[in-house]
Amino acid sequence: MSTLCKNWTQWLMETRFSALTDEMKSQTIAWLDSVGDAVVKMAQIKPDETVLDIGTGTGLLAFKALDVIEQAAGSGKVIFSDKFQDCLDSCKGFLDNHAINANYEFLNASCEDLTLPENSIDKALMRSVLVHIADKQPAINEIYRVLKPGGYFCAFEPIIRSNTRYWELLEPGAIENYYEFKDAENKIMSDVTDSLCNFDDFTLKNNLVKAGFNDSSTLIHTIESKYTVTRDMVIPWFTSPPSPDRPSMKERFLKFFDEKKVDKYIKDVQNNLEGKEITLKTNSVLIHATK
Ligand SMILES: C[S@@+](CC[C@H](N)C(=O)[O-])C[C@H]1O[C@@H](n2cnc3c(N)ncnc32)[C@H](O)[C@@H]1O
Repeated sequence: MSTLCKNWTQWLMETRFSALTDEMKSQTIAWLDSVGDAVVKMAQIKPDETVLDIGTGTGLLAFKALDVIEQAAGSGKVIFSDKFQDCLDSCKGFLDNHAINANYEFLNASCEDLTLPENSIDKALMRSVLVHIADKQPAINEIYRVLKPGGYFCAFEPIIRSNTRYWELLEPGAIENYYEFKDAENKIMSDVTDSLCNFDDFTLKNNLVKAGFNDSSTLIHTIESKYTVTRDMVIPWFTSPPSPDRPSMKERFLKFFDEKKVDKYIKDVQNNLEGKEITLKTNSVLIHATK
């Protein structure tokens, strides 16, 4: 685990927002809400269906799915599932506080081994979970196994390897070791063993077809965000871990350079970008697959 982040709940509630201003945090929360709505809408949940939210975290998708079933006074259920118990505890705390006590269950299981009977789930939902799993095929096979024939797998995943890279934002002349860091960043972003960047929409489509899905549509969304960089923003870009158990960008650079050199690079980045308006491109994929 990272020394900055003890578990997934802390990462979801605090760490992921640590490099953001209040305004950017509000925009990110609104964006997450719209992504959740898009995934749940794609799933076309019926009131009597069994819905599985895989890697539920703090329940972004599961609470929305539960709302659909509750609004229709349906007999269906939502299974909040996660490999990490702290996430399920956090969702349970919310449900208890709001006296919501029907139409849901909890499942503490990894998405590679869901421990559910085959053909038992109508809709499987997921957001930003495959990006944390190095080998995506066993997880997608398992989702296929538990879905009923005709059931849907609806998901949203970020495609990190085609996002804007730091070196693209920088002026080479303003950074002492620009080309060495550019090369290292490109190597980090094309590491096939790294779950965060070893896939894109094309490889995911292959995974879906291999698992047996007979109809899969993957749509790429590109979001561009523009903002003005402040000095304080830059340090967390490099020190915040991308998940509780994965190295930060600074720790990744430390595999290539000594700490003095990495700290100098971060300082150069701060000096070069402070006060500048930057445009960041982030790509993600929406998946709709039918068993
Ligand atoms: C980025 S969070 C996304 C949480 C939630 N789906 C959301 O949209 O806010 C990733 C989630 O995946 C869960 N996770 C990571 N590896 C997993 C695995 N192998 N099986 C199931 N869940 C996993 C984590 O516990 C965490 O809740």
